[in-house]
Amino acid sequence: MTGGLTTTGLAGGRGTDTVIRDIDLSVDSGNVLALLGPNGAGKTTLLLTLAGLLPSRRGSVSVDGTPLRNGRPAAANRAGLVLVPDDRCLFTGLTVEENLRVAARRGGPGPTAMLEVFPALESRWKLPAGALSGGEQQMLVLARALIQQPKVLLVDELSMGLAPLVVESLFETVRAIAADHGCAVVLVEQHVELALEAADQAMVLRSGQVVARGPAAELAADPARLRDAYFGQGENPE
Ligand SMILES: Nc1ncnc2c1ncn2[C@@H]1O[C@H](COP(=O)(O)OP(=O)(O)OP(=O)(O)O)[C@@H](O)[C@H]1O
Ligand SMILES: [Mg+2]
Repeated sequence: MTGGLTTTGLAGGRGTDTVIRDIDLSVDSGNVLALLGPNGAGKTTLLLTLAGLLPSRRGSVSVDGTPLRNGRPAAANRAGLVLVPDDRCLFTGLTVEENLRVAARRGGPGPTAMLEVFPALESRWKLPAGALSGGEQQMLVLARALIQQPKVLLVDELSMGLAPLVVESLFETVRAIAADHGCAVVLVEQHVELALEAADQAMVLRSGQVVARGPAAELAADPARLRDAYFGQGENPE
């Protein structure tokens, strides 16, 4: 069996509101899934539910075929699921090295091992994270996730506020992390074109439901289908 992330019939939300429903998702180890959709579609809610930070109402989440217990973020993290939240959450007063040391795991790689994947951080090593550029901060955010040796990496809007060239290079790194470290990546993005270039598969959420899915290259080649999925003409929930 190929490892990775699987959900079946996942539903969840906040408080009493069900925000996402009937989510069947599968990302193999080494692959990237672009999770797209308009504002308020439920993308962040889905990631938080996968990470156990919001309890699910229905359905299941499995990592490498093993079901996770509902609403247990620490257990999900131990099972190899690592979330990169959309608000970075760095310790801005700590240095780059210290931010990595805080996240490193016993028996896992140390901070300096991350320089192989993120050589640009070397000249920033002793600077506080708050002094880094936006792109450098996102590198650090990715390095902090990678140091935890994820089996599944959930990335929420890495590109927010960054120039397209910076985003492109960050997405290349995300691809490399998936390929070289054999992890399954879910990449939530508003930067649709760049995300589809970086991804193997893609899925569009609208009003909490899947309205389109397929190979990323196929969706990239069919902008009309994407537009309809976003704005609700033609494509209906599965
Ligand atoms: N903290 C919150 N409390 C209550 N409802 C929320 C909260 N955050 C989001 N929601 C609601 O949940 C729904 C889905 O929001 P979510 O943030 O998951 O969407 P999203 O696809 O990530 O949007 P965006 O592209 O803006 O990040 C929306 O209707 C939103 O109003
Ligand atoms: Mg969001």
